[in-house]
Amino acid sequence: MDVENIEKLESKIRWEINRCERRDDLQAVRVKYLGRKGQITLLLRSIKDAPPRERPRLGAACNRLKDFLEEQLAAKAEELSRAGEANELYQPPHDPTLPAHDGIRGHRHVISMVLRRMKEIFYGMGYSLAEGPDVELEYYNFQALNFPEEHPSRDTQDTFYVTDDILLRTHTSPVQIRYMESHTPPLKIIAPGKVYRNESIDPSHAAEFYQVEGLYVDTDVSLADLKKEVEIFVQQLFGPQTQIRFRPDFFPFVEPGVDVAMTCFGCLGKGCQICKQTGWIEVMGAGMVHPSVFRAVGYDPDVYSGFAFGMGVDRLAMLMYGISDIRLFLADDLRFLYQF
Ligand code: DAH
Repeated sequence: MDVENIEKLESKIRWEINRCERRDDLQAVRVKYLGRKGQITLLLRSIKDAPPRERPRLGAACNRLKDFLEEQLAAKAEELSRAGEANELYQPPHDPTLPAHDGIRGHRHVISMVLRRMKEIFYGMGYSLAEGPDVELEYYNFQALNFPEEHPSRDTQDTFYVTDDILLRTHTSPVQIRYMESHTPPLKIIAPGKVYRNESIDPSHAAEFYQVEGLYVDTDVSLADLKKEVEIFVQQLFGPQTQIRFRPDFFPFVEPGVDVAMTCFGCLGKGCQICKQTGWIEVMGAGMVHPSVFRAVGYDPDVYSGFAFGMGVDRLAMLMYGISDIRLFLADDLRFLYQF
C-alpha cells in the first residue's frame, strides 16, 4: 500500500458518495470504508507493518482520506435532507387560468320530483301530511282495515312478514287507522310513503314502491265530494282537459269501492301506446270509508262519513315520463337518473 493508491481511493469514494440517493446508501459507504473490516480501517491497521520511514507519510495520507470521507458523507447527507424537505413542501403555484373541475351536481330523484308535485297539489287543496311506520303491525295493515282473515293478500306470498303479527306494510292505508285513532274529525290528510310486496320482480312489478294515501272524514262527506276532489287533483297534475271515470271495484276498507281512471294525457282519450289504445289510464283505488273501519277507530259510522283513496307513485311517474321499467327507479344508474 502506498500513498498513490490511497489517493486513487479518494476519487473512488467521491464517485460512490455522489451516486447515493438515500441516507441508507450513505451509511453503506461509511461501513464499506470505516467499518470493522472497512478499507480505511484495514489500511490504518497495516501501517505498523510498513518500514518505519514510510509510516508517518502513510499515516498522514490515511487520516486525510478518512477526513475526506467524513466531509463528503456529511455534505451529501445535508444535500439529501434539503431535497427531501423541498419535496414535501412543494406545491404547484396557484394558477387561476386553469379550467375548473366540472363537478358532478346531483338533483332530486324522479320519484321525489313526482311525489313533491303531488304533495303540493294536495296541500293546496287543504290536505295535511300524515305518516306511519314502514314496519307495521298486522293489525293496522289488515285487521283494522277490515281484511278478512283468509284474504289472499295476507298470504306470505304477497306480504313480507317480520313475525306473525309484524310485517312490512303492503300499502299506505294503515296510516288512515293510526291517524283516526289519534284525531277526531274533521280531518283531511295525505300519507305518502314506501310500501313493500313480496312480488316476482319484472318491468312492471317491484318489491318496494311508493303510494300516496288520502283520507277525508267529516259529517256529510259523499261520493260526489270524492269525485270532485279527484278531478281537481288529476286536472292539476295532467291538465284541465283531463276527465275522470269511476267504476265499481272492491277493497275491504271502503264501501262502495271504486277504480278511478282518467283520460289519457297522451291522446286525450283517442287511444295510443301509453293507454294501450283504451283512451283511459287507471290512477287510483278509492271509495267511501267502510263502517267497520270507523268502528275499529271508535268513530260512530252514523255520525261520520268519509272517503279514502290510494295511488301508486311509481306507476304515475312511469306514465308521465315514458319509463318502461319500474326497476330503473332503484337501479342507481346515473345515465337514467340524469335524464330528469
Ligand atoms: N290500499 C290499496 C292498495 O294498495 C289502494 C287503495 C284503494 C287505497 C282504495 C284506498 C282506497 O284508500 O280507498 O291497493
